[in-house]
Amino acid sequence: MVKKVSQQRDLFESERSFRLLVEGVADYALYMLDPNGVITSWNIGGERIKGYTPEEILGQHFSRFYTEGDRASGKPARALGIAREKGRYEEEGWRVRKDGTFFWASVVIDPIYEDGELIGFAKITRDITERRNAQIKLEEMQKQLAESQKFDALGQLTGGIAHDFNNLLMIISGSLHILKKSSDDDPKLERAMSAIETATRRGAALTNQLLTFARRQSVNPQAIDFAERIASIREVLDAGVGSSVRIALDIASDTWPVRADVSELETALLNLVINARDAMPDGGTVTIRARNTALDEPPLTGDFVSISIVDTGLGIPSDVLDKIFEPFFTTKPIGKGTGLGLSQVHGFAHQAGGTIRVASELGEGTTFTILLPRGTDQPSRDTAGAASFRGSGTVLLVEDNPDVALVSIGLLEQLGYHVRRVADAEAALREIEKNGVDFVFSDIVMPGKMDGLSLAHHLRQIRPGLPILLATGYSDVAAGVRGDFPILRKPYEIHELSEAISKLPR
Ligand SMILES: Nc1ncnc2c1ncn2[C@@H]1O[C@H](COP(=O)(O)OP(=O)(O)OP(=O)(O)O)[C@@H](O)[C@H]1O
Ligand SMILES: [Mg+2]
Repeated sequence: MVKKVSQQRDLFESERSFRLLVEGVADYALYMLDPNGVITSWNIGGERIKGYTPEEILGQHFSRFYTEGDRASGKPARALGIAREKGRYEEEGWRVRKDGTFFWASVVIDPIYEDGELIGFAKITRDITERRNAQIKLEEMQKQLAESQKFDALGQLTGGIAHDFNNLLMIISGSLHILKKSSDDDPKLERAMSAIETATRRGAALTNQLLTFARRQSVNPQAIDFAERIASIREVLDAGVGSSVRIALDIASDTWPVRADVSELETALLNLVINARDAMPDGGTVTIRARNTALDEPPLTGDFVSISIVDTGLGIPSDVLDKIFEPFFTTKPIGKGTGLGLSQVHGFAHQAGGTIRVASELGEGTTFTILLPRGTDQPSRDTAGAASFRGSGTVLLVEDNPDVALVSIGLLEQLGYHVRRVADAEAALREIEKNGVDFVFSDIVMPGKMDGLSLAHHLRQIRPGLPILLATGYSDVAAGVRGDFPILRKPYEIHELSEAISKLPR
């Protein structure tokens, strides 16, 4: 007898503590349903997650936690059916709180039997919205990482090719210049030479786009007033799209200056606008939009200007969308597209410290958005052209490649300079020490302990007044120069060289 009482008390105690446990669990909604799905018990977790008090929810059907669509398709009843048949039902899906908001739920339903008869269901629901969001974010980041690794690998390859090609083109175009000077007026020869010239230009344009894609372009980032830039290339853009396509501008008047390389920005805009034209064979409007925006998406944080090129054209199918930035990817017929336009834009945006995004709807149109960091220094105005420039004095040319050197010497001499050439930085320092020069024109990538950039920095210290111009076919270093020294891109033509020299601070 005594024993029985204590047994009952134990049972009562353990039932009580079990009930307290269930009622007190706040992270899980733990509750019972009757065999028809009507709620017969409720705990604090249910109240916290779904927002109902026990008074509100006891006696209600559990289907009210489902979305309207799920209810319409009979999902709640199906869940109970599966739990009965299989002994358990498990799912992740959207559920609705009392206030109408959705949460991502992990749901388990177990049937409860007594003496072989179904008396109801035990239901456990957890709010895993945050975990799901974290998972989605992780997957997104992994995708982005894979994407950027793909572009890095492609960039290595294209950058390497483009670099070697630029040196070759430099030799071709420079030698051509010298040939032209000395050629007699044989029309056949002249035609041949002008064909070589055109091909060389085209080659230079292609390698330039490849370099930009590889983010190895030697850029000269500076603050740019976007509205002003657009105005000054408006004619080129209009000519680019032809007569059936109109360009509309929507540039907020308070748009900050952007920090980027001017000519790369112009090329990118032209590439995007021409793509938009091609997507609108029956004509339409391309809108160029600019807005200020603050980003907090590391590594993109701070003030940016968002520049959108909006078309109302064919749109891009989703299976194509993943590939459009890859070099040589094109859907255009042979001879119409090389597939380098968007590669240039992609490389440009990233090298400028920004990014590019695309949104497209089939049949509705496409929006490309370049995000560029805000420029904080004063936007520079165009300086006067240097067409009639003629130089005098002695240039020290620092160039390791003898063929390139020969061409550069030819061009510099045509501009009126006396040229002395050395093959590396150490020799340059000795030469300056011994004889003195009027300015230094150095390649950036050179063999030896010191490259062109270190040479320039060193000279700035020991000879602060000595003008320095750098040249490069490509350079990872160049991206880090950040406008410290003017940089000339190879292959350059004589007018580009003279313009660069005329802009040197003296
Ligand atoms: N605005 C757009 N609308 C629809 N499709 C586009 C748009 N812009 C680009 N595309 C698609 O992306 C592909 C790649 O574009 P990209 O500019 O890199 O090369 P391309 O225009 O084909 O050739 P290229 O620019 O070198 O002359 C295009 O062939 C086209 O299929
Ligand atoms: Mg294109």
